[in-house]
Amino acid sequence: MELAAVCDLRPEAAERVASPWGASVYGDYLAMFRDAGLNAVIINTPHALHLEMVLAAADHGLHVLVEKPMATTVADCDRMIQACREAGVSLVIGQIQHFLPEKLAAEDVLASGELGRVLMIRDYRTTDYRPGTRPDWFFSETMAGGGALMNIGGHCLDRSIWFGGAPVESVSASTIKRFGVPVETDGAIALTLKNGVHVSISVVSDAAQRLDEILVVCESGTLSCSPHHGTLVRSDGVTRTVWEPQPEDIQEGFFLQLQDFVTVLDGGAPKVGVEHARHIVEVVLASYEAAGSGHAVALLDSAKQLSAGLALTDVG
Ligand SMILES: NC(=O)c1ccc[n+]([C@@H]2O[C@H](COP(=O)([O-])OP(=O)(O)OC[C@H]3O[C@@H](n4cnc5c(N)ncnc54)[C@H](O)[C@@H]3O)[C@@H](O)[C@H]2O)c1
Repeated sequence: MELAAVCDLRPEAAERVASPWGASVYGDYLAMFRDAGLNAVIINTPHALHLEMVLAAADHGLHVLVEKPMATTVADCDRMIQACREAGVSLVIGQIQHFLPEKLAAEDVLASGELGRVLMIRDYRTTDYRPGTRPDWFFSETMAGGGALMNIGGHCLDRSIWFGGAPVESVSASTIKRFGVPVETDGAIALTLKNGVHVSISVVSDAAQRLDEILVVCESGTLSCSPHHGTLVRSDGVTRTVWEPQPEDIQEGFFLQLQDFVTVLDGGAPKVGVEHARHIVEVVLASYEAAGSGHAVALLDSAKQLSAGLALTDVG
């Protein structure tokens, strides 16, 4: 694979990425899709732009790796999936959690069966949604599709549903807007998965202590996983470390994600299917609905809904 071209509205941003590789620089992504001789694109832009950019990539016959969250509505996710299927191009979503070394160590422990069934999950991640802490578009409901839950909560949902082992059945949630910004800065989500596993997720802005931990309670012990403390397994009163954090862990995660994309371009299957990425968007939006109404929201069978949605679009 060769980095052939980079596009950004800010020429200096594109130049910074392109120059070490001798790649061309564009300010108009349609011109790049048309003229740069590409096979595939990585789309790394504000959330609401993912739709038009993925549709255009499909239209130009380009395989796509698009950042999370896949889109800001479930209908947009479906349009992206449909367009890529029809164009015969691959669509992969950058669900980075599935490639981070400490999460891979946790995946191995859970798959080995030594802790038995997963029974309950607690996920807590801090962030910062104070004005000025990130580009302005993150504070726009229209462009970001939401606030801390859409952006950071999506990571917690991603790993919780993955480790929990089943899609979400019902969601209740509450959201908080602080610092005078128009999107939620903090939120809590409680999920029941279809296999009965209970998940509680909290995302907190500007917390006293930075934390990013998923704690998995299993029949025969617990597992705790965070980029700061690595992956620890506790069983029968004894703790053992199965992953020590390394300075290059995040870099390694992105490397493995790109390697997965290369596998897909070579005809393999992605580690994370689009259905999972679509389900995360669906659950975030259900959590907004639950927070707004104060009632739990039940989710339909996501896979059936997806094929029904696509079939309906086919007919239309
Ligand atoms: N996986 C992760 O851990 C992770 C981390 C950070 C961001 N993200 C995701 O990556 C995406 C981008 O986030 P970010 O933090 O890099 O945002 P950012 O604002 O820093 O970067 C987005 C870039 O897109 C450019 N852009 C906007 N509109 C454009 C257009 N029409 N044509 C060309 N370029 C355009 C902007 O100029 C900007 O340079 C989001 O989906 C975000 O959620 C994922």
